[in-house]
Amino acid sequence: MGWLCLLFLLFTTCQFNSTCSSSSFSSSSSSFSSRHLCHPDDSYALLQFKKAFSIRTLSLYSNRTISWQKGKDCCAWSGVTCEKRTGHVISLNLHFGGLQGNIHSNNSLFFLRHLRRLDLSRNDFQGSPISSQFGGFVSMTHLDLSNSNFSGPIPTEISHLSNLVSLNLSQAAVTLDTLSLNRIVQNLTNLRELDMAAVDMSSVVPDSFNNLSSSLTTLILFHCHLQGKFPESIFHPPNLRQVDLGSNYNLTGYFPKSNWSSPLESLDLSHTRISVDWHHLTRNFRSLRYLFLKNCTFVGSYLASLGNLTQIMLLDLSYNGFGGHIPWSLLNLERLKDLDLSGNNFVGQFPEVVRNSTGISYLYEFSEGPLVGPIPRHLTKLTLYNNSLNGTMPSWLGSLPSLEELNLRRNQLSGNIFEFQSRSLSRLDLSYNKLHGLVPRSIYELVNLGWLDLSSNNLSGTVEFEKFSKLQSLVRLNLSSNHLSLSFNNLSNNTWLELSTLDLSFCNISEFPYFLRASPNLEALYLSHNRIQGNLPKWLLDVGKESLTYLDLSHNFLTGTVELRWKNLQYLDLRNNSIQGKLPIPPPSTFYFTISNNQLIGEIPPIICSLSFLQILDLSYNRLSGKIPQCIGNFSQRLSVLDLRKNKFDGIIPNTFSTRNVLRNLNLNGNQLEGPLPLSLLTCRELEVLDVAKKQNS
Ligand SMILES: *[C@@H]1O[C@H](CO)[C@@H](O)[C@H](O)[C@H]1NC(C)=O
Ligand SMILES: *[C@@H]1O[C@H](CO)[C@@H](O)[C@H](O)[C@H]1NC(C)=O
Ligand SMILES: *[C@@H]1O[C@H](CO)[C@@H](O)[C@H](O)[C@H]1NC(C)=O
Ligand SMILES: *[C@@H]1O[C@H](CO)[C@@H](O)[C@H](O)[C@H]1NC(C)=O
Ligand SMILES: *[C@@H]1O[C@H](CO)[C@@H](O)[C@H](O)[C@H]1NC(C)=O
Ligand SMILES: *[C@@H]1O[C@H](CO)[C@@H](O)[C@H](O)[C@H]1NC(C)=O
Ligand SMILES: *[C@@H]1O[C@H](CO)[C@@H](O)[C@H](O)[C@H]1NC(C)=O
Ligand SMILES: *[C@@H]1O[C@H](CO)[C@@H](O)[C@H](O)[C@H]1NC(C)=O
Ligand SMILES: *[C@@H]1O[C@H](CO)[C@@H](O)[C@H](O)[C@H]1NC(C)=O
Ligand SMILES: *[C@@H]1O[C@H](CO)[C@@H](O)[C@H](O)[C@H]1NC(C)=O
Ligand SMILES: *[C@@H]1O[C@H](CO)[C@@H](O)[C@H](O)[C@H]1NC(C)=O
Ligand SMILES: *[C@@H]1O[C@H](CO)[C@@H](O)[C@H](O)[C@H]1NC(C)=O
Repeated sequence: MGWLCLLFLLFTTCQFNSTCSSSSFSSSSSSFSSRHLCHPDDSYALLQFKKAFSIRTLSLYSNRTISWQKGKDCCAWSGVTCEKRTGHVISLNLHFGGLQGNIHSNNSLFFLRHLRRLDLSRNDFQGSPISSQFGGFVSMTHLDLSNSNFSGPIPTEISHLSNLVSLNLSQAAVTLDTLSLNRIVQNLTNLRELDMAAVDMSSVVPDSFNNLSSSLTTLILFHCHLQGKFPESIFHPPNLRQVDLGSNYNLTGYFPKSNWSSPLESLDLSHTRISVDWHHLTRNFRSLRYLFLKNCTFVGSYLASLGNLTQIMLLDLSYNGFGGHIPWSLLNLERLKDLDLSGNNFVGQFPEVVRNSTGISYLYEFSEGPLVGPIPRHLTKLTLYNNSLNGTMPSWLGSLPSLEELNLRRNQLSGNIFEFQSRSLSRLDLSYNKLHGLVPRSIYELVNLGWLDLSSNNLSGTVEFEKFSKLQSLVRLNLSSNHLSLSFNNLSNNTWLELSTLDLSFCNISEFPYFLRASPNLEALYLSHNRIQGNLPKWLLDVGKESLTYLDLSHNFLTGTVELRWKNLQYLDLRNNSIQGKLPIPPPSTFYFTISNNQLIGEIPPIICSLSFLQILDLSYNRLSGKIPQCIGNFSQRLSVLDLRKNKFDGIIPNTFSTRNVLRNLNLNGNQLEGPLPLSLLTCRELEVLDVAKKQNS
């Protein structure tokens, strides 16, 4: 109790007298005489601070505060650094500390007036406001409150921290207004790193960034809802290395055109309307290593002259509508590891490998004629998704020794898939092309593969699932919509523990894949349009009991009654089978449920009305009977399709359609309903289809 009073005294002294010397306490702490030991005030403040939270100790947390024990020197505690001479705590690092609870402005943290570095990132302060007390840490140079579930406005007092070199408030659900920003810009003249990603700045006038510290090296304003014209001058600080203004959809302005050489290494202007002159960029920003210009507005841009970006490692130019041929010579940028040219309407074929008279292989572009250059052996990620590339897949892609991710989804590629020489791939997506032939044998040897999507091609042949047994890291596998026949013979002991998505629709299979019983994390299972007969096996009901969210077993020959045990299902498609018995009811998380074209009997149980997220409910073409439950008109505010046609319902249509409903399609055709049309149908303002005909039309 005594200490608490002293601390309170100290605290008030600090507030009104910024020198905040605690030398007056040294006599009372004589038992801690050794100077490099923790100052007792600070020790006490830290213990109080710890008490204010519940501490979680999951595997990802650092568990730092566990070592904080009374009676031990706090300078030796994990995450705590003291100044040698005074024993005052000057640095506190509780990144991923597992702290959970509120930080009120009376928190003892604010007694630690000597703090120079404070990292509270990745804790859960449960929506606490950022206290104005943070402005009292006048010696602070590094403050990191990122990802810690703070909320509310950033207090103007932050601008009192005039010594700040690094400020990270990213991913806090906080807002910044122009007044606070102006003060920050005025006073924080030593700032080198400013990260405010995802801070809501929708009310900020971007011009306020004009005079930000000239020491700036890093500016991250990703996804800040900034709008209006961003000042060009922000790109001028002489040491600026990283600028991220991405995902500010309504931000306009110009990337500067003046000629000067800049040390900029990383630039992200994706999803903004900031204009970039491609030539100026490539000529004047030769230090660029990471360039993200996804979905941007270019002025007079075309892709030539990339040759000057000799340091470039990552280039994302996706969704810009460049069109024409890919200037493949950019594959020769020596350090390029990651190239994304998706969604650009690129046409033409891949370059091929040619050997010249000295036996050296290089790339040559037949259609265009020019020599491309050496094979890019350092490439790790190539994303050409959603273009119009045609011709065959070139085999050199399969021998790139470092290639980890290859995405050629949605092009016009034809011919066979080549055999992979290199084993480095972890992600392969060739879906939505026109590829023919067998699944190449070498795919079954790609032991690092976590993601394989060959769907929607013309692949054929029989695939014995056993062949995937070496691919133990598979998380996602999609072989659907080809002409493949899958069989599960000889599979007795094979398991895929990581599997989360499995799509074997249109794969000509006749049984449920038994190996799934050992895939505890299954989230999505698609087995539609196959030849599976009989009951849902008992073991299947326990697969992904907590994790399964998508299940499509439609267009099979399932019979018997269905019992549902999945707790977090959202999407359930059982249509076009021969399922019997009563209507099974999925869990309340479901938004999509269709079980049309089956042989269900009995009434709709009123518990259906607990499905308050339901958007689509299709029970048509069954033999359901009895009255339609009263609640059907108002149990879900999101219901847009209610299809009960071709059953045997009788009685009246419930008059319960609620205001603001979003029903578009109400189909009650071919039942034995009677009585008036309910008046509350008038509230269905979105209604497009209303079918209450008695005649069994088609
Ligand atoms: C934190 O503690 C948990 C539970 O005791 C443990 O699983 C985890 O590995 C620890 N974290 C670290 C970084 O040591
Ligand atoms: C700190 O302030 C909060 C909220 O104002 C209050 O609930 C709490 O009791 C206070 N704690 C102490 C130690 O005064
Ligand atoms: C943030 O805090 C709110 C309020 O306590 C809580 O509901 C939410 O789960 C927290 N979010 C995270 C990501 O911890
Ligand atoms: C800010 O914090 C976030 C999340 O904790 C981190 O990812 C990011 O790298 C930090 N920013 C800077 C500039 O260090
Ligand atoms: C600037 O910082 C000084 C020193 O911390 C402080 O006294 C002053 O109030 C601050 N000014 C603004 C506008 O925040
Ligand atoms: C920025 O600084 C210049 C001089 O360095 C000054 O003229 C101008 O008014 C300042 N702008 C703002 C918005 O403070
Ligand atoms: C591109 O940006 C616009 C808004 O400027 C957005 O509507 C669109 O979804 C974005 N496209 C892609 C592919 O991200
Ligand atoms: C590099 O830029 C210069 C102009 O500064 C230009 O003349 C040259 O053609 C460019 N080189 C390449 C390979 O694009
Ligand atoms: C493919 O890219 C075009 C623009 O090139 C875009 O309009 C279309 O929406 C994209 N399709 C997909 C599925 O991303
Ligand atoms: C063969 O190609 C290499 C690499 O492009 C080149 O350096 C060499 O001069 C070429 N030799 C002949 C004889 O064309
Ligand atoms: C590829 O597409 C172009 C048109 O963009 C066409 O002229 C060419 O014949 C196609 N090549 C192949 C092999 O399909
Ligand atoms: C059900 O599926 C079978 C096989 O796919 C098909 O022949 C039949 O027409 C489908 N019935 C309906 C009503 O869609």
